[in-house]
Amino acid sequence: MLQRPRRNRKSAVIRDMIQETHISASNLIFPLFIVDGENQKVEVKSMPGIYRYSIDNLLREVDSCMNIGLKAFDLFPAVEESLKDKYATESYREGTLYLRAIEEVKKNFPEACVVTDVAMDPYSSDGHDGIVENGEILNDETLEVLGKMALAHAQKGADIIAPSDMMDGRIGYIRNILDENGFTNVSLMSYTAKYASAFYGPFRDALGSAPKKGDKKSYQMNPANTREALIEAQLDMEEGADFLMVKPGLPYLDIIKLLNDNFDLPIAAYNVSGEYAMLKAAIANGWLSEAAIMETLLSFKRAGATSILTYHAKEAIEKGWIK
Ligand code: PBG
Repeated sequence: MLQRPRRNRKSAVIRDMIQETHISASNLIFPLFIVDGENQKVEVKSMPGIYRYSIDNLLREVDSCMNIGLKAFDLFPAVEESLKDKYATESYREGTLYLRAIEEVKKNFPEACVVTDVAMDPYSSDGHDGIVENGEILNDETLEVLGKMALAHAQKGADIIAPSDMMDGRIGYIRNILDENGFTNVSLMSYTAKYASAFYGPFRDALGSAPKKGDKKSYQMNPANTREALIEAQLDMEEGADFLMVKPGLPYLDIIKLLNDNFDLPIAAYNVSGEYAMLKAAIANGWLSEAAIMETLLSFKRAGATSILTYHAKEAIEKGWIK
């Protein structure tokens, strides 16, 4: 045999020498859940090791992440049921939990990168990402709410705004409002190919944001489809997105590769709550070893994602798997 591929695997030094894919802390975005109150740190049942923090504890958590080199955060609010309404007005009300959280994080950690989530569902009494009328999700009316929300986030210092709603035209609409108000430097990370997935279950438990009726199939993508992802990505490019995101991550590695092969914007992968819950449950049962976590994270990078939103971010750095 002239070719013996095993020669390149014979020692740790050689294996490391030819390793193609690396992840560093700078590639990671850590999603954090926030709740109202003081001194709150409540574990999400289906996501061991992940908590809902009140703002005081959120700042402590951000501090401990910053100290280990984890500097990008995506914030998600758990909103009290009594504050929700049909039009998600709580999402842009001055003084609301989420806006205070953005402001506090940026005030205390100006060098942190704060990613904010734009979508109606945490604030919607219908639990949908758009305005619901007679069972239909209204697209263009929803854009107005998203625009107000995005502007409020920018005013509080958001570095990157990430619309996760999947309404048509929202990237262009939001880009326009930001620019008109002087926020030309605020970035947009579009949830470009967001699938109608069962893997969001634990997240909806964490926020109490599940749809009250129906599902999200009229706006989130059909898991069986690939070509629509190209249309969505093309539109996001034209409308001014700075990043294209694929979500969930693990069941859609082909979509990450597809977008990376076809578009020159950075690709983000969202390793969602259900993917986290699945690994954690198997590890807790002794059915998988913890090595499955890095193997999973590497797959996103290998498929072409430059940034990874993952609930594993902090532990992967703390355990020394990622530097
Ligand atoms: C909602 C939103 C969802 C997630 C991020 N933003 C859930 C949904 O669309 O129902 C899911 C994240 C996760 O599961 O980790 N706009």
